[in-house]
Amino acid sequence: METNIHRLAEWIQTAEGTVVLTGAGMSTESGIPDFRSREGFWKRVDPQRVATVSALEEEYETFHHFYRLRIRGLERVHPHPGHQVLARWEQQGYIRGIATQNVDRLHQRAGNRQVWELHGNILQFHCHDCKKAAERSRFLQQKPCVHCGGRLRPDIILFGEWLPETTWSEAMEAVQQADLLLVIGTSLEVYPVNQMPQLCPGKTVLINADKTAMDRQLDLVISGKAGEVLQHVDQIVAKTEEG
Ligand code: NAD
Ligand code: APR
Ligand code: ZN
Repeated sequence: METNIHRLAEWIQTAEGTVVLTGAGMSTESGIPDFRSREGFWKRVDPQRVATVSALEEEYETFHHFYRLRIRGLERVHPHPGHQVLARWEQQGYIRGIATQNVDRLHQRAGNRQVWELHGNILQFHCHDCKKAAERSRFLQQKPCVHCGGRLRPDIILFGEWLPETTWSEAMEAVQQADLLLVIGTSLEVYPVNQMPQLCPGKTVLINADKTAMDRQLDLVISGKAGEVLQHVDQIVAKTEEG
């Protein structure tokens, strides 16, 4: 583990254009469950019943209850030190930006400015029927759309829906120009985001708590917790910078 940490620190410093890709594992140390590990959401809830368009259209009450709880849970969470490291690395010019599957906006709250939200965000809302923007309070109170009486939803991408085209193509362009892709806290199970590592011409590194089906396709895999590993790498980078 030690040499891998030192190797990552060296790659972070020498790379010209590093892009970071994060998943739910980046937010668990802030208290937000992920989806597929032991305490993940999908261990308790069937994603087909809450994270698909048919769930929204046919079981709105179940859909609404799941997201209402997640939104209320977000009121008490904060970015952890690992998020702060990534914000500092952008300010110091070590990373170009973060492509994230997370919808919690913790990267932006930590201070990152270039964040491509590939699965949208759970803090803004719109009407599923007329697509007009909607108030958070109106969603939480389960009120219908003021414009058309339709069903309100968070601005997230549901299974089977297309990723936001501009965000997706900008993130893909950044990955295809990167000489280092740092993947953090994702099982790499979900298409099309899980295609990113093989589309990067540079080195690919994964920091993850569990093994993934893609481990062997990556140049370096560091098994561990995002917050702890990122702080450790950052200490080595800072020490080398001091000379
Ligand atoms: P799926 O098999 O229904 O989705 C796979 C589809 O993603 C592909 O067939 C492809 O058509 C589509 N896709 C979306 N945007 C694309 C793009 N810009 N370029 C190419 N293909 C694109 O469902 P899945 O594989 O189980 O999950 C992946 C899909 O579900 C993706 O669209 C992903 O964004 C979305 N998703 C939503 C959530 C959520 O709950 N917030 C979670 C994960 C994935
Ligand atoms: N540090 C490092 N890795 C962690 C940590 C941590 N503190 N906590 C969890 N992990 C790892 C888990 O071992 C798991 O492999 O993060 C990974 C999270 O994987 P998933 O739960 O599958 O989450 P993610 O990859 O982001 O899912 C992709 O699926 O359902 C959708 O909307 C959801 O956008 C999400 C998408
Ligand atoms: Zn409407």
